[in-house]
Amino acid sequence: MSQPTTTILAIESSCDETSAAICCDGNILSNVIATQKIHEQYGGVVPELASRAHLQNIVPVVDAALKNAGITIGRVDAIAFTQAPGLIGALLVGTEFAKSLALALDKPLLAVHHMQAHVLANLIETPKPSFPFLCLTVSGGHTQIVLCSSPYQLQVIGQTIDDAAGEAFDKTAKLLGLPYPGGPLIDKYAKQGKPVYAFPEPKIDGLDFSFSGLKTSILYFLNNAGAANVFKEEYTATKEERQAFIDANLANICASVQERIISILLNKLKKAAAQTGIKDICIAGGVSANSGLREALTKTGEQLGWNTFIPKFEYCTDNAAMIAIAGYYKYLKNDFASLDVIPAARVGF
Ligand code: KG4
Ligand code: ZN
Repeated sequence: MSQPTTTILAIESSCDETSAAICCDGNILSNVIATQKIHEQYGGVVPELASRAHLQNIVPVVDAALKNAGITIGRVDAIAFTQAPGLIGALLVGTEFAKSLALALDKPLLAVHHMQAHVLANLIETPKPSFPFLCLTVSGGHTQIVLCSSPYQLQVIGQTIDDAAGEAFDKTAKLLGLPYPGGPLIDKYAKQGKPVYAFPEPKIDGLDFSFSGLKTSILYFLNNAGAANVFKEEYTATKEERQAFIDANLANICASVQERIISILLNKLKKAAAQTGIKDICIAGGVSANSGLREALTKTGEQLGWNTFIPKFEYCTDNAAMIAIAGYYKYLKNDFASLDVIPAARVGF
């Protein structure tokens, strides 16, 4: 007789991606992601527009996830959803939809922490990291080093004290006149350039990060049209000179900024690995889609004898597959949420 299976429908709606996934006994059967293009013209995510787009997308996205997995809603054993953190209006849409489905189907509800799910995305594919592992989680709102001792024990051992790595990419892109989200574009242009400008590396103790100083030095650098690598508050260039400098050197500027962000991230990750003695090293979050970071992590891992784990692109940026995996581990522990659960914009773990 075959073993009973556990099928989970997961919903992610914390920011500007509406996503639904189906997972059966920890294997992802489908992962549908609708990216909201509307925010591009505003240079960043507009919370109310995100909520409205989630409302519009959520039913077709869930329907597509079921169809792609080849199952009907009746086969679902539990509903997982992103409870926190994120934009509150965006979280409300996914939470309310998940709660209504759980009530209608009389199935349990699994409330998932978005940042924990990013880390656990490393357990989707094989080979999987062994516990304990370290995960560098780099997204638009967070930059963390997480010590993961089991799917239920995750501890933040280092984090940014100001901007997130994704913000550093996106704010740099804005300064360069590139549209939102700027991370993928900086990645693209960096491939065509060389890191010829040596942006200063912040000096922060311990395992914490800081990116706000880098953004300021880029601003000053551009305001001086790159004159002799000036990173201080001097304004020698006119608007036209600044633009001409950007136009002529975009690829090299992107390569230089990207290299500095990567060196900040990897230096702290090396420190964390040395301090803990852990050699299974993972990466997660939207910025882990960056090709320079993926390459540098692989190279560093080879040099230091790490086992590195880099999820495929669709599991790095916001997606419901990671919510499904995190929800699956909660299901195994009967860690269910009640139907009066509410979302939270900010909550740590
Ligand atoms: O995890 P994520 O999809 O959403 C959040 O929870 O924040 O991360 C989004 C961030 C954005 O800042 C975006 O610019 C960045 O990930 N990103 C990248 C790349 N792809 C996405 N940054 C650098 N290089 C990329 N290829
Ligand atoms: Zn995220």
